[in-house]
Amino acid sequence: MEIERIGVLGAGTMGSGIAQVAAQAGFQVVMRDVDERFVNAGLEAIERFLVRSVEKQKTTEAEKKEILGRIRGTVSMEEMADADFVIEAVLEDLELKKRVFAELDRLCRPGVILTSNTSSMSITEIAAATGRPDRVAGMHFFNPVPLMRLVEVIRGFETSDRTVQVAIDLAQRMGKEPVEVKKDSPGFIVNRVLMPHVIEAVRLVEEGVASMEDVDKAVKLGLNYPMGPFELMDLTGIDILYHVTEYLFKELNKENKWVSPQLVKTMIRANRLGRKTKAGWYDYE
Ligand SMILES: NC(=O)c1ccc[n+]([C@@H]2O[C@H](COP(=O)([O-])OP(=O)(O)OC[C@H]3O[C@@H](n4cnc5c(N)ncnc54)[C@H](O)[C@@H]3O)[C@@H](O)[C@H]2O)c1
Repeated sequence: MEIERIGVLGAGTMGSGIAQVAAQAGFQVVMRDVDERFVNAGLEAIERFLVRSVEKQKTTEAEKKEILGRIRGTVSMEEMADADFVIEAVLEDLELKKRVFAELDRLCRPGVILTSNTSSMSITEIAAATGRPDRVAGMHFFNPVPLMRLVEVIRGFETSDRTVQVAIDLAQRMGKEPVEVKKDSPGFIVNRVLMPHVIEAVRLVEEGVASMEDVDKAVKLGLNYPMGPFELMDLTGIDILYHVTEYLFKELNKENKWVSPQLVKTMIRANRLGRKTKAGWYDYE
């Protein structure tokens, strides 16, 4: 089946980024969220990115218009029925993802491949919520999607070779560099490597070994990473770190290396009280 129209579920940080790169690659995109507010915020984020891109002369005004013209925001799940390929980027909650996939399975044509942008969770379990587990895979993009080149393509237990190949080809058409994760293992490649490193960074601060600023500085200058772990958490959001580490702890033999430090939980509580929108380690305002 020729892929012309891509359905994206979720208009948040990742969903809007995925919708943007798909539209930039020439696909028609339907981006669905549960509330108009979220849909509009996603569309505005895309427009802001493209306006900056025009200012930097990386995109022309005409291209910007064409890209925006290819993205339609909606709150209607039924609109997924016209999609030729679906990428899900709703919250990192397994039960929610299973519900969403069961609904997609009911709405989408039988040949349509359904993929999840989950950061860590079992593709096999998500696929089992559908009657087409061979046509379900992981497609893990990185934040910010328009700038980060990697996509991990993850094989669930029943994912077919063809599904993996179609997802790899699509990632390439979207200007990305895919890698294949051959087994459905929690956290895949990048988060499996990243999470213990981020947790140790928080522990260093919690134990008073070094300041947050110096941990970031040490990692950037000593390991030549472009961002420190605290800067990275501020970019990706601290709730995601927490959900991913909780899941890895549960799945990977309850080893201590996956346990979120108390300081992470305190920061999340502080954020919920409305202090910050991002992880909030640095006070940017
Ligand atoms: N933020 C990151 O750095 C990052 C990186 C890679 C992968 N991910 C993964 O991508 C997914 C989304 O993360 P995010 O950072 O974009 O979260 P987000 O909170 O910014 O956006 C999630 C959106 O999903 C919407 N949503 C909830 N239920 C929905 C439904 N039934 N249908 C459509 N939309 C629904 C929410 O309203 C919200 O707008 C998660 O699985 C996350 O683990 C995140």
